[in-house]
Amino acid sequence: MTAPTRPIVVSGMRPTGRLHLGHLHGALSNWVKLQAEHDCFFFSADWHALTTNYAQTAAIKTAEREMFVDFIAAGIDPARATLFVQSQVKEHAELALLLGMITPLGWLERSPSYKEVRENLTDRDLALYGFLGYPVLMTADIILYKATRVPVGADQVAHLELSREIVRKFNGHYGEVFPEPKPMLTEAAKVVGTDGRKMSKSYNNSIELGEPAESTRTKIMGAVTDPQRKRRQDPGDPEVCGIFYLHKIYSDAATVAWVDQNCRSAGIGCVDCKKKLLEKLEPDQERMREKREALLARPGDLDELVAIGNAKARGVAEATMAQVRAAMKL
Ligand code: TRP
Ligand code: SF4
Repeated sequence: MTAPTRPIVVSGMRPTGRLHLGHLHGALSNWVKLQAEHDCFFFSADWHALTTNYAQTAAIKTAEREMFVDFIAAGIDPARATLFVQSQVKEHAELALLLGMITPLGWLERSPSYKEVRENLTDRDLALYGFLGYPVLMTADIILYKATRVPVGADQVAHLELSREIVRKFNGHYGEVFPEPKPMLTEAAKVVGTDGRKMSKSYNNSIELGEPAESTRTKIMGAVTDPQRKRRQDPGDPEVCGIFYLHKIYSDAATVAWVDQNCRSAGIGCVDCKKKLLEKLEPDQERMREKREALLARPGDLDELVAIGNAKARGVAEATMAQVRAAMKL
């Protein structure tokens, strides 16, 4: 009897810093759910990190370790999902090079994130071949495993559209080797940072995964709420408040309803509301912190687990590349 085939899922993250609650509720908790019914490959996109961080490469490997620890602390089970490192599976580079031969420059230059990131990161030169080719490498990452589903945020959908076009072009030239990957849009819980903007490391408004209880508390107690609610007796609008979004993630339905009503009627103050949130948030942070520390205390185990993932990914990648070389008559 052959094992029933499960849909293949691939997703990656760039190891550029510690993960925060935005990553946890925006992506990771969805990955955790997916591993039950899909063959999941989750990887560190360390080569992709170079596209913008080519001048600070020393921080990448440290960030990668922390990132894998965060994955596991969040509930990714390395026995079920394959965790690996992009640069440890050289086939990613080979396939990206081959895809580059058929990817029109115009497709890459029109990519919205290419334009956007170039405009936003003005502190460094991004008129670079590697940066322009970001979506080509990303396509290789995905199709090397013949993934059909790719859980990503809305900002990556344009990249995946490009991936599908590259796949169609490849299959048109050389035969049906690859399925077209589709984005799985995470119905991402919205996570707002302590300043009321989207939670992001570059805004310095984030709460790290497993951040100690005291500093989680300090950040929450100091966080911006409904800016219109200046005094305790002013009614508030929970829909514009980041604390309310966190309640929706961490608290039960009755508590969320309690916040919703009492915020609008000024029945509670923001301090009460935040303390209520911390009753749930702090233990969860504590749980992840303990898990993180246990993992970091056994670096050999972590290395071994990633080595196993690398080997598994390599096996799949080698088989695909054999097909690719045959299809291309190389
Ligand atoms: N581009 C993704 C990001 O910045 C990271 C990434 C690289 C990725 N390769 C991928 C995501 C393949 C999904 C599939 O978030
Ligand atoms: Fe936000 Fe709660 Fe204050 Fe309302 S009461 S503004 S939801 S912190």
